[in-house]
Amino acid sequence: MCVCVCVCECVCACVCVCVCLCMCVCVCVRVCVCVRVCVCVRVCVCVRVCLCPCVERRCGTSGNVRIKGGQRFQRFVRHTGDGGVDGAPGPEGQAGPQGGEGPMGFTGAPGPCSPAIQSAFSAATASSFPPPNRPVAFTMVLYNQGNFNPVMGIYRAPVNGTYVFSYNLAVKDKPLMVGLYHNFRPIVRTTVTSDPGVASQQVVLHLSRGDEVWLLVKDTATNGMIAAGENSSTFSGFLQPASQGSAKL
Ligand SMILES: *[C@@H]1O[C@H](CO)[C@@H](O)[C@H](O)[C@H]1NC(C)=O
Ligand SMILES: *[C@@H]1O[C@H](CO)[C@@H](O)[C@H](O)[C@H]1NC(C)=O
Repeated sequence: MCVCVCVCECVCACVCVCVCLCMCVCVCVRVCVCVRVCVCVRVCVCVRVCLCPCVERRCGTSGNVRIKGGQRFQRFVRHTGDGGVDGAPGPEGQAGPQGGEGPMGFTGAPGPCSPAIQSAFSAATASSFPPPNRPVAFTMVLYNQGNFNPVMGIYRAPVNGTYVFSYNLAVKDKPLMVGLYHNFRPIVRTTVTSDPGVASQQVVLHLSRGDEVWLLVKDTATNGMIAAGENSSTFSGFLQPASQGSAKL
């Protein structure tokens, strides 16, 4: 839409200067020269000069300038024609930058307790007079949560923790010299010379994961450990559940 304001100077002929402001912020200058040939007959020649490239919508025709006798100046306002239809939407713009980090969420509900590892075993010998050059086998398993190898006669600690071991061994026909070993180191020893007799100990040990514990007899002269129906020889051990992961003091 354009709005024009014209100022005309009329003596015998009229000279009009129009200034038009268009919607595209364009300033146009229109210069009109009118010659009055005879009464009430007027010829106008208009030249329009625009100061910027103006994409005009369809504009209406110029209005005539009417001159009243004796009136030296006249102003008029010219309106443009109807506007066109709206154009199609432009292409979608680029994605904006990523937003900042959101606020911290609420504290979650407590999770389930991790199950404590359990480890316990108890086993008896199946034969008398065990060989001295290897850990004593206890193949008659009474209970084993999996960390005792009955054929090898070796218990392996599943976690760092405090463990309790005990043995009760029936002695007959020979003396018995037996020791409880922790990784090849003798921890306690028992010697029984009475016949029949019983060798027994109970110890509490701190073991690291993977440590091994077993029983060993001294030699074939002092391996009087028997396995009879009336007198069992047993080796037992368990992990104290509350001690898991405790530091070694
Ligand atoms: C079992 O032990 C008892 C007491 O120590 C003893 O009198 C008995 O002879 C033993 N039995 C066998 C088969 O060794
Ligand atoms: C177990 O104990 C050993 C030292 O005895 C230590 O190096 C290791 O980190 C401990 N492991 C755990 C899970 O506490």
